[in-house]
Amino acid sequence: MARSVVKKVNPATVAEYEQLVREVSHHDWLYYVKDSPKISDAYYDRLYRKLRELEERFPQLTLPHSPTQRVGGEVIAAFSKVKHPQKMLSLDNTYDEEELKQFLRRNQEGLGKMPTAWVAEPKIDGLSIELTYDNNHGAALVTAATRGDGIYGEDVTHNIRTIRTVPLLFKDMPFSPCTVRGEIFIERSALEMINQQRVDEGEAPFKNCRNAAAGSVRLLDNTITAKRPLKFFAWGLLEAERAVEDHWQAMELLKSSGFPINPVNRLLHTAAELFNWVHEFDKTVHTLAYPTDGVVIKVNRFDQQRKLGSTSKYPRSAIAFKYSAEKAITQIKQIQVQVGRTGTLTPVAELVPVELSGTEVARASLHNEDEIARKDVRQGDWVEIEKAGEIIPQVVRVLKQRRRSALKRFVMPKRCPACGSEVVRDAEAVARRCSNRTSCPAQLREAILFFASRSAMNIEHLGPALVDQLLQRGLIKDAADLFQLRQQDLAALERMAEKSAENVVAAIEVSRSRATLPQLITGLGIPHVGAVAAGMLADYFGSLAAMLNKNPQALQAELEAIHGIGPVIAAAVAAFLQQSSSKRLLKKLLKLGIDPKQPKAHARDANLPLAGLSFCITGTLSKPRQEYKEIIQTMGGQFHSTVKKDTSYLVKGEGAASRKDQLAAKYGTRVITESDFNTLTAR
Ligand code: IVH
Repeated sequence: MARSVVKKVNPATVAEYEQLVREVSHHDWLYYVKDSPKISDAYYDRLYRKLRELEERFPQLTLPHSPTQRVGGEVIAAFSKVKHPQKMLSLDNTYDEEELKQFLRRNQEGLGKMPTAWVAEPKIDGLSIELTYDNNHGAALVTAATRGDGIYGEDVTHNIRTIRTVPLLFKDMPFSPCTVRGEIFIERSALEMINQQRVDEGEAPFKNCRNAAAGSVRLLDNTITAKRPLKFFAWGLLEAERAVEDHWQAMELLKSSGFPINPVNRLLHTAAELFNWVHEFDKTVHTLAYPTDGVVIKVNRFDQQRKLGSTSKYPRSAIAFKYSAEKAITQIKQIQVQVGRTGTLTPVAELVPVELSGTEVARASLHNEDEIARKDVRQGDWVEIEKAGEIIPQVVRVLKQRRRSALKRFVMPKRCPACGSEVVRDAEAVARRCSNRTSCPAQLREAILFFASRSAMNIEHLGPALVDQLLQRGLIKDAADLFQLRQQDLAALERMAEKSAENVVAAIEVSRSRATLPQLITGLGIPHVGAVAAGMLADYFGSLAAMLNKNPQALQAELEAIHGIGPVIAAAVAAFLQQSSSKRLLKKLLKLGIDPKQPKAHARDANLPLAGLSFCITGTLSKPRQEYKEIIQTMGGQFHSTVKKDTSYLVKGEGAASRKDQLAAKYGTRVITESDFNTLTAR
């Protein structure tokens, strides 16, 4: 048996290692929590690599709070239970100012006088988490638990430690063990990005930010959690009265110990100040990057909190003040069933247009047939719709009293509305799908649009209306046919002026010459294969021709051996490559000269138009941020999530000035508009 040799480590190396852990952790904190990095990416990478090298040479040195311990790769069999040291209570809700006044009156009655001060904090719509740090482990994070039933939570430490804003070490811990509570959440723009990817990969999108955060934290494999842009704000420290006198001081203590505290929080001394703040916050709440469902008002002093006590469910010293989500009433004209790229049938309510949160809404999501049955939504119903955390408006409820008796219950079609093929219901999912995998026109239309989309072949000017006409006139029968289109074919189409025809033909040529192998593989629309998996597959195959010529028998096992590709993706790719329709498409693409090679990693970006340039984005642009990120990266540029010293441009969209504007001013970064950016990247 081989004896493992533990290399001796000299004290200087130990000291060097510990210094590196401190240094890298400090720069992580500056970058992720303070949003103001002080060193370049390249310098950071050097420090990080040095740390990794030391840990690889002397594994026994590795500290649990080393920044290297945040990366994913740990899979647990099941969640174990954790008992909370104190019950995790809920908050009582108030919905109007009168109820808030009553809360203040109860404060006054309970204390015999008004509280000295309150702290007001946004109530972020995420999931609560409890972090325990222990001196027996050098003040390191030992457990992270969900709320669960308030008494027992689930141990999700392996996932929470991947979140960069969660400190792995409690600096200057005032006592031990220390329990910090707070909220894990994801920002709205991140939800769009995750959902885009999920839809691309044939998975159901998350309904809102809270579900996405909860879904990411409750995973057994933390590789996926590590990739989700989860964030954290602390909102409580248990037994804080052992160190400080009030909640505000407790939050200051946490802040100086490295915990992220919401900068929007306010200390308010009078009822007038409190009401003022609540009004002001209501006006600006929509500009925050994360979803909230109101504000939390907390009596500040701990002695006053204790005197007020709690019920079995809520503390009497705190309350949630909820702003009502904007709602509107309208009528469902029709329930349409859309057929997606992978054949999934999705019911959508077509509405009599109505204004909601400043925009006209004509459609609302109905999710799936179970949801329709639960709410008993029927064609012709009057419904209440709401835009809360969700991106697409939702049908909240049916106004049954306004229903005419004749309305028929909605049933999902038994045959595909586009091709008439049989509809099947997946055993494990609620979704129904069209069973025709090769010639359903709706799937074909969506597949072509996806092939041309930005994350795939990036063919500009090729929108749904044009694809519909091309299909109707038989000018294209599949995605490959796009590369055979001539200008005269297009010029004859309705509303296609000659100039537009020229633009489309030019855009197709740009795609032919510029699209990379990962983009092409993404565009094939293989279930579960998004841009990330496509990149790995491109590295593995090297070319489209190689993909076609692989022996399908051995393929699945070979793919599964690639790190990051699991059995689901491997099976989907193998199945795709065995279908005769896929083989036909690949052969046709090759015949038309579409066969980008996967360059060697180091040579990949050097000649691209944005090589050497980096971009950061602030405010709202006319397209999702993810699309811009992809344009930047596809053209060889770097995308920075914050402005750093070496960021070349800050692209400024609509909205109030942000921290990024301040950083740009500090570093002298060039600030450009969206249209400047489009000019810069025009082809
Ligand atoms: S304090 C006794 N502060 O809201 C409970 N909660 O409805 C003390 N939440 O489970 C909670 N932001 O997940 C508090 N600034 C904040 C919060 C917050 C979000 C959530 C938290 C809690 C739920 C209670």
